[in-house]
Amino acid sequence: MSYKGISDFRSDTVTRPTEEMKKAMVNAEVGDDVLGDDPTIIKLQEIAAEKLGKEAALFVPSGTMGNTIAMKLAVGEGKAVLMEERCHIFHFEAANVARIAGSLPRILPSNRGEIPIKLLEENIYSTLRDHIPETKAITLENTHNMWGGAVLRPDYLKSVSELAKKNNLHMHLDGARIFNAAVALKVDVREIVKYFDSVMFCLSKALSAPIGSILAGPEDFIKEARLVRKFLGGGLRQVGILGAAGIVAVEKMVDRLEEDHIRAKRLGENTAGIKGIYVDIKEVETNFVMIKTETMEAPLFLEKLAEKNVWALPISRDTSRFVIHKDIDDRDIEIAAKAIREVMN
Ligand SMILES: Cc1ncc(COP(=O)(O)O)c(C=O)c1O
Repeated sequence: MSYKGISDFRSDTVTRPTEEMKKAMVNAEVGDDVLGDDPTIIKLQEIAAEKLGKEAALFVPSGTMGNTIAMKLAVGEGKAVLMEERCHIFHFEAANVARIAGSLPRILPSNRGEIPIKLLEENIYSTLRDHIPETKAITLENTHNMWGGAVLRPDYLKSVSELAKKNNLHMHLDGARIFNAAVALKVDVREIVKYFDSVMFCLSKALSAPIGSILAGPEDFIKEARLVRKFLGGGLRQVGILGAAGIVAVEKMVDRLEEDHIRAKRLGENTAGIKGIYVDIKEVETNFVMIKTETMEAPLFLEKLAEKNVWALPISRDTSRFVIHKDIDDRDIEIAAKAIREVMN
């Protein structure tokens, strides 16, 4: 349901906590997580590790911090990591790879987030010349934000992981929305994270928790991650208050993601026919709809929509991103489609 009369499609990060989350937060049993004895956060970490099929997990305040820690541990100073050219880590994380990990991000083009295997292979440097940064890791993003919520195929992930194994590379997943991918593919999330050594996913996006992400991986990696989290200022005290909402997020909010995907398709279908609008319906794979305005620049289009209480974000001069989430219902889809039609008329 829209909040205060606004149909807010800017991101799934705008979701407010559910009543069950709020109750769980108020009643959370807490300790001091820097001292390692907050029972609620310990429980969340155990549940998250189990759901992902990983040995251990760590609560981090944000997805950015989870990715940053992974880059610092898996790549290292003066070494290189292969990543896709539109990925979140490269563009939207304040140069974390360069500044915190001290590493070289080697960015490569892709087909909707999938970098061709041959291209990955050609960019793995180990012994060619000693002044070429040695490749230590590959990171992928699933679903892929700037490719409109694209889902990476399991057989592709398998091929990349075979290449990584052969070359002794760490595989990291920016899985901010990995449960959206699992739901779209109709597979257990373990089936698509098993190819990765480390995985970050967000509690605070479509799963609707107010704050937090999870970094998961092998026991020794997570032990090190805890120290890096502290160094980054991410060691929190009575953090079980946030963890309580996180538990509800992973246990109760995954299955409903399909509703978001259905509504995203509907918004795409209801707008694709409007004069001056282009939407590629087959690219609506999860909860994102990329709407191209052929006769109006995105900022003006969005300004006019905002006058009708419909909010979204521009991602380029002619494309706007609409994200469907828990706080968008059928009525919001109708409101948005109607508003878009009126604006384009
Ligand atoms: C794909 C992806 N990765 C990572 C992040 C970072 O998450 P946070 O905003 O919690 O730092 C985002 C945030 O939008 C994202 O879309």
